Amino acid sequence: MEIPQRQLGRTGMTVTQLGYGTMGLRGPRTWGVRVVDEAAASRVLNAVLDAGINFLDTAPDYGIAEERIGRYLSHRRHEFLLATKCGCTPVQHEDHLEIRHQWTPAVIRANVEESLRRLRTDVIDLLQFHGGRWEDHQHSGALDAALRLREEGKIRHLGISTSLPEVEEHLSADVWETVQLPYSALQQEHDSVMRAASDSRLGVIVRGGVAHGGPDAEIQREALNRLWERMGLDELRPPDHTRAQFLLRFTLSHPACDTTIVGTCNLEHLQENIQAAARGPLSDELVAEIRRRWQKATEDRSHGT
Ligand SMILES: NC(=O)c1ccc[n+]([C@@H]2O[C@H](COP(=O)([O-])OP(=O)(O)OC[C@H]3O[C@@H](n4cnc5c(N)ncnc54)[C@H](OP(=O)(O)O)[C@@H]3O)[C@@H](O)[C@H]2O)c1
Repeated sequence: MEIPQRQLGRTGMTVTQLGYGTMGLRGPRTWGVRVVDEAAASRVLNAVLDAGINFLDTAPDYGIAEERIGRYLSHRRHEFLLATKCGCTPVQHEDHLEIRHQWTPAVIRANVEESLRRLRTDVIDLLQFHGGRWEDHQHSGALDAALRLREEGKIRHLGISTSLPEVEEHLSADVWETVQLPYSALQQEHDSVMRAASDSRLGVIVRGGVAHGGPDAEIQREALNRLWERMGLDELRPPDHTRAQFLLRFTLSHPACDTTIVGTCNLEHLQENIQAAARGPLSDELVAEIRRRWQKATEDRSHGT
């Protein structure tokens, strides 16, 4: 099954439009209820590459996810592009991982050097600032530190992982080559930001592209389920699509979505996602109707009706 490919903005990198997010591989003593063991982590990471997915997103904040990529995929390093993050100073407590961010040159350099070691690689294809304000990155020297790492050949490209409202100031900065944003049929707030980013030749990376699996998720999210109901999405869903497939094809139909880094630790879900990606975009009419329903459902919600 052929997964469509796209140019990631002006980076020159060609990515599969279905990518893979590794947050779910974070391991024990982090957060959430589900822990994936070593055998399952190895299986899913290798299955991702076997399916031809060539873009992986991770972060120093995701527990042992980077280590697992290094351990299970470093022998296949030429098969994929690797994106990680910086500005991360996670603190491991007895029972959980606390996520903290700090924008200093020392943190940026330490993040990259430790990520290279954990990932067992010589170069990070894309380093993304893990949130934060544009002026902080600029004035703290954090951005200059990242640019130096690029000159040294330790990273290839530089991006920002962000959301509204901070994204606005990042879009006018000319240093980023990619932007990572949340988007799905159930979370459409970043629609116009994605278009603006793409028009500026930024590569657009979508997170949350299957809305955690929607109402079929193993880990249920009541607010998303209610929105799904309000939008009446089951009426629109083609009968041969699971809810997650329908969500995913909607995300991939966005003209600015170069890749969406879907996380899954379930091999059947991975296959479903690959099948959905291979089918290409939904029809323009269906996309327009899903947009219209989201507008209405979220307006009604804000007016309390
Ligand atoms: N600020 C940031 O930079 C930031 C924040 C959040 C996330 N991220 C990145 O984005 C990636 C994805 O984010 P996310 O995990 O929040 O969102 P997501 O990809 O929308 O949701 C992942 C969840 O969806 C479920 N799922 C996937 N495919 C499914 C299918 N076909 N059917 C049913 N359930 C399915 C998975 O469960 P199963 O394992 O059961 O399939 C998993 O729990 C992360 O891994 C991370 O790389 C970045």
